[in-house]
Amino acid sequence: MNTKPIIALDFPTPEDVTAFLSQFDESLFVKVGMELYLQNGPSIIRDIKAMGHDIFLDLKLHDIPNTVKSAMKGLAKLDIDLVNVHAAGGLRMMEAALEGLKEGTPAGKERPALIAVTQLTSTSQAQMNDEQQIPGAIQDSVTHFARLAKQAGLDGVVCSVHEAKMIEEACGKAFLKVTPGIRLAGGETHDQKRVATPQVARQEGSTQIVVGRAITQADDARNAYQTVTQLWED
Ligand code: C5P
Repeated sequence: MNTKPIIALDFPTPEDVTAFLSQFDESLFVKVGMELYLQNGPSIIRDIKAMGHDIFLDLKLHDIPNTVKSAMKGLAKLDIDLVNVHAAGGLRMMEAALEGLKEGTPAGKERPALIAVTQLTSTSQAQMNDEQQIPGAIQDSVTHFARLAKQAGLDGVVCSVHEAKMIEEACGKAFLKVTPGIRLAGGETHDQKRVATPQVARQEGSTQIVVGRAITQADDARNAYQTVTQLWED
């Protein structure tokens, strides 16, 4: 799996995406989320692929196994590189997602990697206990869902940097820990509660980092990307 920092393309229109990507002449690893995909559909994926970039399609699917399987079968045909589901959909749903990806991957192509969201980083301890009615510590739920994802055959999870070590202990080094909430030292944290620098992410065992606004809203995005890459790779 590509280990370049994954740039979150949280833009509303294809024009914004093209304007942003035109600043770069190298091949990137980018994340397309709900905002961009649900307004523009598969054509945005084809356009970004045509520019030579790898894509993490962050749609966090969560439905009955058969529906998720069919959806994944279709997404695999788009030649994406990484996609995700909610682990809360269950073991069978995650297995079905994987089956769909395998069936949909064109001959001679590599299956997109599949990772699971455990507990959203926006979910608080109280919310998990009171609203989801899951007792205990949020870290235990995160580890439980990571193990379940591994049991289903998934390649890893999306998690906070602060959960990466714990997941490495439970699921191993090779299990992907894709971590958002990355900021440069002294940078604006925006709405993220718990942030980490690229160096800390590496030390804690992140296998990929997702970086949005620290790059996309920088005065010089290319320079910010290079700084993040250096700190991540050093
Ligand atoms: O701008 P920023 O670096 O905070 O963007 C982080 C990206 O990662 C956003 O696209 C956000 O939706 C996504 N994300 C996250 N936390 C998660 C899962 C995804 O911030 N737990």
